[in-house]
Amino acid sequence: MFASLPSPSPDPLWAQALAYRADPRPGRLDLVVGVYRDEAGATPVMRAVAEAERRLAHRAPSKEYVGLSGCPAFAEAVERLVLAGAGEGRRTTVQTVAGTGALHVLAGLVARTRPGARVLVGTPTYVNHVPVLRAAGLEVAAFPHLDAGPAGRGRASVQAVLDAVAGARPGDVLLLHGCCHNPTGTDLDAEGWVAITEAVLAAGVVPFVDLAYYGLGRGLDEDLAGTRHLAARVPEALIAVSGSKAFGLYNERVGAAIVLSEPGHAGAVRGTLEALARAEYSQPPHHGAAIVTEVLGDPALLADWRTELDAMRSRIDSLRAGFLDALDPRLAGLPQWQALRAHRGMFSTLPLGPEAMSHLSREHAVYGTPGGRVNLAGLTAAQVGRLAEAVNGVVLGTEARRSPGPPLHGAGSPLPDAGSPLPDAGSPPPDAGSPLRGPGSRVQVSPPTEAVPG
Ligand SMILES: Cc1ncc(COP(=O)(O)O)c(C=O)c1O
Repeated sequence: MFASLPSPSPDPLWAQALAYRADPRPGRLDLVVGVYRDEAGATPVMRAVAEAERRLAHRAPSKEYVGLSGCPAFAEAVERLVLAGAGEGRRTTVQTVAGTGALHVLAGLVARTRPGARVLVGTPTYVNHVPVLRAAGLEVAAFPHLDAGPAGRGRASVQAVLDAVAGARPGDVLLLHGCCHNPTGTDLDAEGWVAITEAVLAAGVVPFVDLAYYGLGRGLDEDLAGTRHLAARVPEALIAVSGSKAFGLYNERVGAAIVLSEPGHAGAVRGTLEALARAEYSQPPHHGAAIVTEVLGDPALLADWRTELDAMRSRIDSLRAGFLDALDPRLAGLPQWQALRAHRGMFSTLPLGPEAMSHLSREHAVYGTPGGRVNLAGLTAAQVGRLAEAVNGVVLGTEARRSPGPPLHGAGSPLPDAGSPLPDAGSPPPDAGSPLRGPGSRVQVSPPTEAVPG
């Protein structure tokens, strides 16, 4: 049966994650996997989550089936959290198998509603966006996410979104990152959200917002403001919500798909989402949703969750600032490195290409993705200097090299001036593994069994 089964293209992110695990060097840094870690290097169970679990265990709720839409109280709580009052009366929400499940059922909804619809996607983007969209049979049209030029590494290009929308057909879909863009760390500003909202309204394009890292960028309400503005204005929208990052519930697989629709369409929307779920996994797992419902429904737990989320965000901000402060001044002054100061959330894409990233892991045991993405939330304060030193060494060629090979930027040769790109710098390639990028490396990677890089 399987003799003619082709092996899927290996995922370079997985290759990096597995290489990290196999690396025996003490002090190796895993900046590949998209999870928050604390100062002890652990991914913590948040205090409010632990308390909610304790209460749930005491209450011993039944394990009976909940229903195809999942837990209704969870859906209401997530709507309130994400949208506040925006789109009230027009919202249909189902619980999903995490953020990925939300992306998946929403892509399926688009495909059922409008076969052949195109999804406009700014690249680079989250490594799984394009596979999920294509798996639903949707066509993907890419446009650049970042502004051009070295300093553009710090800015999402609103103009590129507006141009993509101007070239779209009514009924096409525009994928947006709600906040903390993965992999670049560059978000739309408030004016950008307003301009894009007016553009999609005028063009009849349906916005599809992916919300995975809310609370980890500028603050909870600030990170949700763009999505709320959009939801208040447009007649139709799709919103995929992940509970993995903001609640630290990675392995509970909790998320929600929110659909805003015009009067009279909610029944068909819910029915279609339920039919898609029914044919695939029937019902989502309950435990994570019960935890989130408990946290969001109890004022004391909610306040504690927000406090801890704020602390996580501040830690990430100070790690990013500490890393940039520790860079060699010859690098730190260049616009492509300065640009990183504007990044928000766990990720930054360093202005380093695959060769330099592979050099970082080979020579310094520092593992990011081949596209240059590093998860800064994977560092401790003590490791910030080590990351900066490794980057200085790789870019300036000042390191004591342990394996032969030409320096990436010859020691002693003049540094490129601010306008010229560093080796491998320039506009980042779509994150490794993106099918937009063409064939990847031929390293065989076994299927993931542990943490999934996000
Ligand atoms: C931008 C983005 N969206 C969605 C997801 C999916 O998250 P999950 O399925 O773990 O909730 C991720 C995970 O890394 C992500 O980075």
